[in-house]
Amino acid sequence: MTTRGSDLLALMRGLRQSRRFLDRPVPREDLEQILEVARWTGSAKNSQPWHLVVVTDRADQETLAGCGDFAGFLAGAPMSIVVGIEGPGRPGAYDDGRLQERIMLAAAALGLGSGTAWFSTPESRGRVRDLLGMPSALEPWSAIALGYTDTARAQAAPQLSGRKPLEEIVSWGRYGGRAG
Ligand SMILES: Cc1cc2nc3c(=O)[nH]c(=O)nc-3n(C[C@H](O)[C@H](O)[C@H](O)COP(=O)(O)O)c2cc1C
Repeated sequence: MTTRGSDLLALMRGLRQSRRFLDRPVPREDLEQILEVARWTGSAKNSQPWHLVVVTDRADQETLAGCGDFAGFLAGAPMSIVVGIEGPGRPGAYDDGRLQERIMLAAAALGLGSGTAWFSTPESRGRVRDLLGMPSALEPWSAIALGYTDTARAQAAPQLSGRKPLEEIVSWGRYGGRAG
């Protein structure tokens, strides 16, 4: 494997959710690179059913933080990107997930932390839509906080970290089958 390949694998394997950020802005050129990566996300029939709203206003960050059940950390982030997906009638959460993961990986490649906040109810998405003036045709499924991770502070409760072992989540050949 190339060094570049192993670096990329390490980046992907090490991607974690940041929830505590330093009070330091995201450089504009980094943000533009992240948006450019996001633009190239794949979608069914290349429909690109999304619109991204860049939020940097402190008061707006605080309002967004109150829109989701577990979105409070957005208030302490220097900025976020709210992802709106055209709907209904699309696998909106799927489109949102692909886009988000790319944003998070691009941020990590630039040395930035990122964290997803999910707006799980129609009511919460309505509040986000109203705040940002989004048209009703867009579902704002999530916001991704971006910034420099405050590594001196804990990012999550222990139960929110770690992963199941591979044997628990992978079968070979048939459900329940073991690796040969
Ligand atoms: C669909 C989805 C929704 C999530 N929503 C939230 C959220 O609202 N608030 C939050 O703090 N983390 C949220 N997360 C992040 C997860 O809590 C996190 O990825 C998981 O606990 C694993 O943590 P780690 O990636 O830091 O190891 C979400 C993740 C996904 C995939």
